[in-house]
Amino acid sequence: MLHDLERILIDREKIAARVHEMGEQIARDMVEELQAEGASADASERIVLVPIMVGSVIFLADLMRELPMKLSLGLVAVSSYPGATVQSKGATIRSELPSDIKGKHVIIIDDILDSGRTLGLVKSLIMEQAPASCRVCVLLDKQVDRAVEIQADYAGFEIPDAFVVGYGLDYDGHYRNLPDIGVLKVEAT
Ligand code: IMP
Ligand code: MG
Repeated sequence: MLHDLERILIDREKIAARVHEMGEQIARDMVEELQAEGASADASERIVLVPIMVGSVIFLADLMRELPMKLSLGLVAVSSYPGATVQSKGATIRSELPSDIKGKHVIIIDDILDSGRTLGLVKSLIMEQAPASCRVCVLLDKQVDRAVEIQADYAGFEIPDAFVVGYGLDYDGHYRNLPDIGVLKVEAT
């Protein structure tokens, strides 16, 4: 599997350190948000993480354990790279959206922000349900011209325009279990 990588872009230690920092920042912001609302102590029950499946699973598992507050999960499945391709085919929702979002503080979580189609679509559908707030959190922010204008409120790393795998990111369903993030060799595609 490692032979298919051109190079490691971000190793596991760097990822772990950054995910820890992101967790601290998100926790601080959510506490501030709830305090600003004058909310009672159990208001943290209104925090909902909306991870975009499947790519965000590993990031989600690590990030949520850095958040020391009550929260729930509402998964959403989206596919944009069906089969063996490094070209996005546009985002399609493959599951029901979480339906109890009204008045909640939502954090949408994904592995990577690329063209913006996936997060743009999911965010617009979440916003239709009138959440109290909606933030976007990604591990990777690819430096490209977006097809859909959307910014991440939290981004772990800015990366160049290359196709990356590992730490949840796949090519044709594989490489998600690589602990580091690497650039895939063109021959492997
Ligand atoms: P967007 O809709 O173009 O912003 O792409 C976001 C989705 O495409 C993410 O949820 C990823 O699953 C996938 N994606 C985008 N770029 C890459 C990449 O470099 N490697 C693997 N998956 C990617
Ligand atoms: Mg994805």
